[in-house]
Amino acid sequence: MPPISRPRGTEDLLPARLAAMAGAVAAGMRIANSFGYREIATPIFESTELFVRGVGDTTDVVRREMYTFPDRSGRSLTLRPENTAPVLRAFGESSLRELPPPVRLSYAGPMFRYDRPGRGRYRQFHQFGVEAIGDAEAELDAEVIAVAWDWLADLGLGGISLQLNSIGDAQCRPAFRQALLDHFAPHLAQLPELDRERLARNPLRILDSKDPDTEELLATVPRTRDFLCPECRDAFERVQLALRAYRIPFQINDRLVRGLDYYVRTTFEVWHEDLQGAQNALFGGGRYDGLSELLGYPAAPGVGFAAGLERVVMLAPPPVPLAPPQVVVCSAQETAVGLAVDLAQRLRRDGLAVICDVGRRSLKGKMRAAERSGAGAVAILGEDEVKSQRVTLRRLSTGDQVALRLAEASGQVREWAEASATEGQL
Ligand code: HAM
Repeated sequence: MPPISRPRGTEDLLPARLAAMAGAVAAGMRIANSFGYREIATPIFESTELFVRGVGDTTDVVRREMYTFPDRSGRSLTLRPENTAPVLRAFGESSLRELPPPVRLSYAGPMFRYDRPGRGRYRQFHQFGVEAIGDAEAELDAEVIAVAWDWLADLGLGGISLQLNSIGDAQCRPAFRQALLDHFAPHLAQLPELDRERLARNPLRILDSKDPDTEELLATVPRTRDFLCPECRDAFERVQLALRAYRIPFQINDRLVRGLDYYVRTTFEVWHEDLQGAQNALFGGGRYDGLSELLGYPAAPGVGFAAGLERVVMLAPPPVPLAPPQVVVCSAQETAVGLAVDLAQRLRRDGLAVICDVGRRSLKGKMRAAERSGAGAVAILGEDEVKSQRVTLRRLSTGDQVALRLAEASGQVREWAEASATEGQL
């Protein structure tokens, strides 16, 4: 029988990568918290309707990329493809909406999209994100960008650029949409099938096209910022002013429309120079003032971003390698198993990382394994040690060996560890 392998587009996060990802999340949470954001966790599956209404049924995410299934009672559920709609639902449904706005929330966890797998693109991937809900002030847009920006700086990630745009609102977007349609109307025959479909379904998405024929026509396309109503124009100015106050450089990108339907006004992405094509965004976000009502809740304007953790970790400098265990406790005889387990537990309670090797193989084999583990010391317990209630402790880097009372073992291991650290510095 062929071995069973993981589903296409998924990844096993092996310890080193998982530690890098957890470290990136911890840094993000810490920085978000310094701006007043607190962590929230919502279910990994939601009712399908949440995304159909929230993200929009003309988007690629909803039309082609959702993992949707009926549960045993016939309800249609979907593995969340993103977390803005779920967080807004949780906000609307809970006591959070009684707090003074804006309510600042952060999150991290797996998302699911049936996308074509590739470099930095998975079917199960992880996001870290924040949402600031209940406040329409444009300065808040700059604040969420500042959280992301400080986080990437903390991770030591360079080579990034902030792309910024405003796509207007329900008042001014129809005129822009019409201008786009008028621009492309004489050239429909020149457009590839997919872009013709986009133009019919969701004209703004054509600005995202990577097709060379469409690109040619996009060179002279109308710009969203020329169509903004006075309120949207004012908001866009204020976002830029606040970004300058945070000293965050940005590029205005007239073609940045984003793939989710809930955005109004500010949209942004952070790109990295090493990410190419459709996967160049480390994170994306924007304002979504009408989303709460679309979900059936009272109005709650908001803004947020989400970053792809796989992409962030792929580009960030490698984190400190995982620390090896400090001690390996070995039993040399079966009669010593009890004492070995007791000692290992005592050392762990003293704050050391301990591997307990009490199997039946030879002490020689155990010593070899201890050396390979990268541990600093081995604690050996045989018949003599059981009788004397002492432990033989060997420092692996030098071969030094001492017999100690059990209670003294932690102190000795620490002393050796400190000595090694100082020797390493010399
Ligand atoms: P999004 O642009 O769809 O926005 O996703 C945000 C980030 O998730 C992307 O920039 C990318 O780094 C990562 N990402 C998306 N799809 C994949 C994939 N298939 N594999 C790996 N990484 C991926 C949102 O999800 C919005 N909810 C962001 C937001 C928050 N807007 C307002 N608040």
